[in-house]
Amino acid sequence: MAKQLKNSSPWFDSVPQKVRFPALFGEQAADFAVIGGGIVGVMAAWRMAEQGFSVILLEKGTIAGGETGFTTALLTRIPDTSSAILSKKYGSAFVQELFVATREASGYLHSLVKRRKIKCDFSECSSYCCSYAPENPKLKMEWAAVHSVDKNAHFVQGKEARAACPAVAEAMCVEGEARFDVRKFIFGLLEKKPSCLRVFENSEAKEISVSGKVEIRTAGGIVRAKKIILATGVPPRQFELPVSLETNVTFALVANYPKGAPFSDNIFWDTADPYFYFRRLDSHRIILGGMDVREGEKFSANEQHEKLREFLNEKFSGKYTVENEWSGRIVCTHDGLPYIAQHPKYPNVLVATGLGGNGMVMGAMAGGILAGLATGKQNPHAKLFSFSRGAQTEQQAKPKQQPMQNTRIQTKQNVQNKHEPPAPAAKNAHAILLAFALVYLSVFALTTYTFFSAHGGVSFLIGANFATASALLFPLVGLYAFSLLWAQIMIGSNLDLLRKVFPLAEKFHRAEGIAALLFALIHPSMILIGVGLSNFLALNFVPPSLVTFVWLGFFQLLLLICTAGSALLMQHPFLRTRWRIIHYANYLLFASVWIHSWFLGSNVQSSSLKYLWAAFALSVIVSLALRIARARKAVGSGINKEVVGMKGTKYVKVALVKDIGEGSPFCASANGTNLAIFKLNGKFYATENACPHAGGPLCSGPLNAGVVECPWHGSKFDVASGKVLAGPATTPVKTFPVRISGENVEVML
Ligand SMILES: Cc1cc2nc3c(=O)[nH]c(=O)nc-3n(C[C@H](O)[C@H](O)[C@H](O)COP(=O)(O)OP(=O)(O)OC[C@H]3O[C@@H](n4cnc5c(N)ncnc54)[C@H](O)[C@@H]3O)c2cc1C
Ligand code: FES
Repeated sequence: MAKQLKNSSPWFDSVPQKVRFPALFGEQAADFAVIGGGIVGVMAAWRMAEQGFSVILLEKGTIAGGETGFTTALLTRIPDTSSAILSKKYGSAFVQELFVATREASGYLHSLVKRRKIKCDFSECSSYCCSYAPENPKLKMEWAAVHSVDKNAHFVQGKEARAACPAVAEAMCVEGEARFDVRKFIFGLLEKKPSCLRVFENSEAKEISVSGKVEIRTAGGIVRAKKIILATGVPPRQFELPVSLETNVTFALVANYPKGAPFSDNIFWDTADPYFYFRRLDSHRIILGGMDVREGEKFSANEQHEKLREFLNEKFSGKYTVENEWSGRIVCTHDGLPYIAQHPKYPNVLVATGLGGNGMVMGAMAGGILAGLATGKQNPHAKLFSFSRGAQTEQQAKPKQQPMQNTRIQTKQNVQNKHEPPAPAAKNAHAILLAFALVYLSVFALTTYTFFSAHGGVSFLIGANFATASALLFPLVGLYAFSLLWAQIMIGSNLDLLRKVFPLAEKFHRAEGIAALLFALIHPSMILIGVGLSNFLALNFVPPSLVTFVWLGFFQLLLLICTAGSALLMQHPFLRTRWRIIHYANYLLFASVWIHSWFLGSNVQSSSLKYLWAAFALSVIVSLALRIARARKAVGSGINKEVVGMKGTKYVKVALVKDIGEGSPFCASANGTNLAIFKLNGKFYATENACPHAGGPLCSGPLNAGVVECPWHGSKFDVASGKVLAGPATTPVKTFPVRISGENVEVML
């Protein structure tokens, strides 16, 4: 019976995709946090944990489920970019050091597999950068450049070349290379991970704060660390780099040759454009890859795979069946080398990106360099991958050299020379903290002063024992609790503004909430101590006409425990979507405490405290009104919906009806949301334009019978419901209501 064609790499056959590590829940701290569980993140985390540092690795989906899972896993130390071109651009000393760096990384990988006895089908072999016709000038040039820096490289032709692969006429051969099963490698490594390395899956880093200590928030928890490593392929938008990156989509397949693989167990790639590369998977199956297309170019995955099949037919004899066909994304830089460096703006953020089609060896190398940068052990090769790499060598080399071939994408600026002014938040933080402290001191001083002046000073406490002092002072503690609650309301209702100028506002708000709760608990405890249990239970400490307000006090305590508790446990799965609603009850709480203390508080109505009460009430009413006004404005403009915690309800124009063709997706953007718009049988649909798997642009994918296919790894979604019809994505894509208004297509955002 014919085998079904699989839409993913063979590594998902050998190690099926499933959740193996828990999701982050609650608060955790570590020396370092790594975001992204691809080869870069795993290697960086491993290298730091190996040295005994505590490390937390957060992965949005499942480990090795991103590009790493879709690789073809050729382990070569030869960079993607032509060494001849790199030599022209940066000089031969640069290329020589590059080869030392990749050789060390490759050596580390080889020894790691052996040392840890990882069963990952690792097979040492040679690599062949090849030509199918003799006397290929490009190959000769490449060979000369590589041989000048790596004496292990030798040139083969004729019989020797054909012995490696019958289709090859000549090649540059490098020994000491390898191939492996990357998912077996990664999971084999993590199986024996030290306990100081904690791994979390389904834990997307949603908010990252890097002012002072690093704080990362996922849906379920918070990680605090000294430094953070961004190993997310492309860094999150917040950490945008001052360099251009290009995304290519690349294609691969596994073909089974029942009579045996048609070439030796080595790895091969050619010098053509578009290029092809191939390797054995085992004795009968081979992997073929290539036919890359640049981002923005229209393509059909079927056609690209068909071209791979044509290559097989043309170059190799023998019948075969294709078992797997898949595509993936590679992220490239202007010169084909990755950036592995400290983020130019944030000293506690390290980043690796642009590994291109070289991510296995370069990924291992990136892990080592990042771990070194994080832990303070500089790697001598780090400068090759900095944002200003080759600045000097390039200057020296310039007069003699030709311009580089691939100049399409340019580095925008030399980021290391750029002076960054301090972020406004950091600049204002101290002033705001001081202002907070002053407000608090004034409120406490005022309440204390008013309380004691109403009692004629502190003399009323003279001679009082503990119980009597408790009975005399409990109103003051109640007053403190009320003042803290007022401050909580003021900070909470202005948190959207405060966050912008005082990054620690939220933390402060939480700490202050805990203080308010403590004072609120101490308040009745002091009454209990002061009047004794029987009087306390009989409510004998107030005149009968005021008992209702005491009951109100008990109700408030309960409510405060609920609102504060729900905020403190907001990461609990049950509370994640509910805590905010519960927290809004604080306004009700404030109003009822105001009434409770107005009637029960000592001398509130007859002393100057009444002005404080009026100021508390007025400021809360004004603050709440302004907050509601801001929320409405934000909804109207479609901005900041998350901050104000309200859902948008407005239809926004995203396109003209005539722009959108039947069956061909349209890319749109409105209010900061990127959208994919589809027209099917005259009806319009809209989804978010980021595939939930790794952010692939759905508006660039093919649409068939209401199903859109992600151009990066082929996930399929029903455009009407957003439902996943084929992986690797596991969660549905967000959909939006659409309406037609005259000539316009409008989407509710
Ligand atoms: C078809 C194909 C063939 C290839 N062939 C080769 C080859 O033969 N040899 C070679 O050396 N290289 C090859 N490559 C390239 C190589 O696979 C990649 O360069 C490498 O896997 C990139 O690894 P990475 O860790 O940077 O990225 P990824 O593996 O993509 O890892 C990034 C991870 O970060 C996670 N993430 C993103 N955002 C967040 C967030 N906010 N919170 C938490 N997690 C997040 C993602 O879910 C993802 O798992 C190939 C690539 C493809 C697609
Ligand atoms: S990004 Fe991977 S399937 Fe869409």
